Amino acid sequence: MHCIRKITEDLTWVGANDRRLAMFEGVYSVPGGVSYNSYLLNDDTTVLFDTVDKAVRQRFLENLREALNGRKLDYLVVQHMEPDHSAVIMELLALYPDLTLVCNKKALAFINQFHDCDLDSRVFIVDEGDTLNTGRHVLHFVMAPMVHWPEVMVTYDSTDKILFSADAFGCFGALNGALFADEVDFERDYMDEARRYYSNIVGKYGTQSAALLGKASCLEINMICPLHGFVWRRNIEDFVAKYALWSSYTPEEKGVMIAYASVYGNTENTAEILACKLREKGIRSVMYDVSVSSASDVVSAAFKWSHLVFASTTYNAGIFVTMEAVINDLVSHNIQNRTVAVIENGSWAATSAELIRKKLEKCRDINILENSISIRSSLKPSQLSEIDQLADAIAATLPLPDAAAQGVPSVPDNVDPITMFKLSYGLFVLTTRDCNKDNGCITNTAIQISEHPRRISVAVNKSNLTCDMLLRTGAFNVSILTQNAPFSVFERFGFHSGRDTDKFDGFEDNNRAANGIRYLTEHTNGVISGKVVDSFDHGSHMLFIADVTQAMVISSEPSVTYQYYFDHIKPKPQARAEKKEGFTCKICGYFYEGSPLPDDFVCPLCKHGPSDFEKA
Ligand code: FEO
Repeated sequence: MHCIRKITEDLTWVGANDRRLAMFEGVYSVPGGVSYNSYLLNDDTTVLFDTVDKAVRQRFLENLREALNGRKLDYLVVQHMEPDHSAVIMELLALYPDLTLVCNKKALAFINQFHDCDLDSRVFIVDEGDTLNTGRHVLHFVMAPMVHWPEVMVTYDSTDKILFSADAFGCFGALNGALFADEVDFERDYMDEARRYYSNIVGKYGTQSAALLGKASCLEINMICPLHGFVWRRNIEDFVAKYALWSSYTPEEKGVMIAYASVYGNTENTAEILACKLREKGIRSVMYDVSVSSASDVVSAAFKWSHLVFASTTYNAGIFVTMEAVINDLVSHNIQNRTVAVIENGSWAATSAELIRKKLEKCRDINILENSISIRSSLKPSQLSEIDQLADAIAATLPLPDAAAQGVPSVPDNVDPITMFKLSYGLFVLTTRDCNKDNGCITNTAIQISEHPRRISVAVNKSNLTCDMLLRTGAFNVSILTQNAPFSVFERFGFHSGRDTDKFDGFEDNNRAANGIRYLTEHTNGVISGKVVDSFDHGSHMLFIADVTQAMVISSEPSVTYQYYFDHIKPKPQARAEKKEGFTCKICGYFYEGSPLPDDFVCPLCKHGPSDFEKA
């Protein structure tokens, strides 16, 4: 039975999923399966973009027949001749006698290589910039050699502004009923697989991928249809931005990937001690035992992280076999622009560090740290200082104190932060309870995000105790404040830290909801209890997504907005009797007396930094 999905009125996905494939291309595990995408355009003429792997041939043929709805197939655009997309070409030529293949010269050569036949009379050869008018649509062909084979081309439908991107923008994983990336939590559930796909399949060809991105940047793109994975119709620029990083070998994250090969656990022990030392310095690390992790996972992680540490025992006077395979894989995938450190172990002749170094020296822009550690069988207490020194050397190339290193982007010139205050917000008291401590803070970020399931989100400044408590307990109440809320409520919950004060001390107007957490009974018109189902780190704030577990209407007073608070509740600043030197927070009006304003100053009221202060 056919299984197809409509993309637009005249474009249909006719591909299929394979969840039985153990090793994609014979080398990459695909525990979540893989999709082979094929797209049928039903215009005045019918056009199919690529076919599928032979494993899903039958489903594909049923899908195509259904989507054609009795029409004949006029054109097959062969964008990529790798057999996972071209296995059904010959069968289609037989099934549809009027079918014309649209491909470039290189693809035709590959068709002849794979099938040993003469197809010249049934082929329409295209080159860069050539077009095919199919009725309403105009297809433009764009060559994309080595993304991932030499014959690869992509197709741009200038009518609906759709890019058929061949292997680019693909992802491992079966589609599981979804077709569009916005139908799943792509960042959480698929981004790692997209990176693993890119780095292992196309990673070697960063220059060529960047060239394709350059061509694509000149196009207005509403949708991207790749040969594997999801169709992109929303937030396309986010995924394109990832490709820009990957194709330029720019690390996505500052931190350390530690890959180790350890026969009896002593090399692993050394690697783990290093990881602890790094974490104590605030440096994030991830660890891979290359004897059990797939090389594709390690390659993918190497494309993600800025610093790579390889710790390997010496084996037959060389690098341990699984580590040697990983290093060779990284070199062949063109890894570059990374800082590297090596650790070796050897019971009688330790040689692996030097051998790893020699292999990686061939890669571009690899900074191999001089500090390395050589252990004999096991790490000795006297060598702990060497690990400290290695951690120091890594930290010296990974400066964390400045904002940029902590992932706080500088504000571009064309971003006026005041614009953010034009957004309208409510104001809420967000309360939590942990280990018998009740706490709460003022927030303006509670919003409903879905009806089914009924969910809300709330963003909380990470410096707030409430944030720490929420991370531990995952439960909260939101009391929706009303216009009659006095300033004292904002002072109580907003201007102090729960670390220093008991915010409920002497505060009578509260009760406990079913989750045991306090909520406000006065100056509030409704209370929503949330149970956290997900949380995301967004730099200064954590975003919590929560199921609504209880909701109560308390009064009919109108909700207070941020604007109303500023206009009617917040006391107006008193004119200072004598002009003092200092800085005023543009956000909340807080006055810092003195000059200069310290670089690391944080407003005690609204938590904004020096860039939001102006000289008084
Ligand atoms: Fe899925 Fe390069 O082919």
